[in-house]
Amino acid sequence: MAINFHQIKNFVKHYFVAKRNGHGVHSPFSYQLCEEVFYNRNHFYDFNELKKVRNSLLNDTSELLIEDFGAGSKTFRSNKRKVNEIAQKGISTSKQSEVLYKLINFLKCNTSIELGTSLGLNTLYMANANKTGKIISIEGSKSLNEFASTLAKKNNVQNIEFIHSKFYTALPELLNKLPSLDLLYVDGNHTYEGTLNYFKLVLEKKNNASVFIFDDIYWSPQMTKAWKEIQNHPAVTLSIDAFYFGLIFFREEVKEKVDLKFYI
Ligand SMILES: C[S@@+](CC[C@H](N)C(=O)[O-])C[C@H]1O[C@@H](n2cnc3c(N)ncnc32)[C@H](O)[C@@H]1O
Repeated sequence: MAINFHQIKNFVKHYFVAKRNGHGVHSPFSYQLCEEVFYNRNHFYDFNELKKVRNSLLNDTSELLIEDFGAGSKTFRSNKRKVNEIAQKGISTSKQSEVLYKLINFLKCNTSIELGTSLGLNTLYMANANKTGKIISIEGSKSLNEFASTLAKKNNVQNIEFIHSKFYTALPELLNKLPSLDLLYVDGNHTYEGTLNYFKLVLEKKNNASVFIFDDIYWSPQMTKAWKEIQNHPAVTLSIDAFYFGLIFFREEVKEKVDLKFYI
């Protein structure tokens, strides 16, 4: 992804301000997150297999015809995109995917929604992190939805439901069917309106242990504005700004609202 001034400016700030470990973190839950997720250096067995899948995508030169959704891509112009180019520039890095894996593994999320499947690699990380849980992943591009679904079959991963739809079209009906939502991962349509609309829709399905994750909160001033509004929502008791993504929690045991910044 091309880097812009807003991102550079905020990255520099984040670099100097953010914590690099759990020292001085008072809330026991936030400290546990540092130990078990953000700074957990354990190598999980699944990472070897997932790395192989990433490498196979990085070597795949086949082309997909893709409709552009949401805020649009800053990197690609044509509608024809090579799988290896998407794998290089359009999806989460190994580090980000591994943090997401550790988070789901630690929280034992049973029902998770991903907005923005793309090639479906992150979806595989999420599905492997809790094999008894279920991931529902929504993607607007038909060719990407099909690619991701085939990738999951090839890798024998069965706990994912892939939905081909625009986010806002599929979400209401999907949420109606769910008693509650443990994890939401928003990684597409990085606009102010889109981000807040998805947040408002899923909010009624939160539970005490839910986590909502918003990717690319410094992608643009509008995304940062949306993130700040979400952070300040009265239902949020803990927010974590990890620069690449922001996490919010609703735990009642966190008595005083805390906003933390971590350099991961
Ligand atoms: C950044 S990519 C997702 C990357 C993926 N989560 C990963 O890291 O492997 C964002 C995806 O969201 C899809 N998308 C964006 N806006 C959308 C919308 N409004 N409805 C449905 N899909 C959308 C795009 O087609 C794109 O494939």
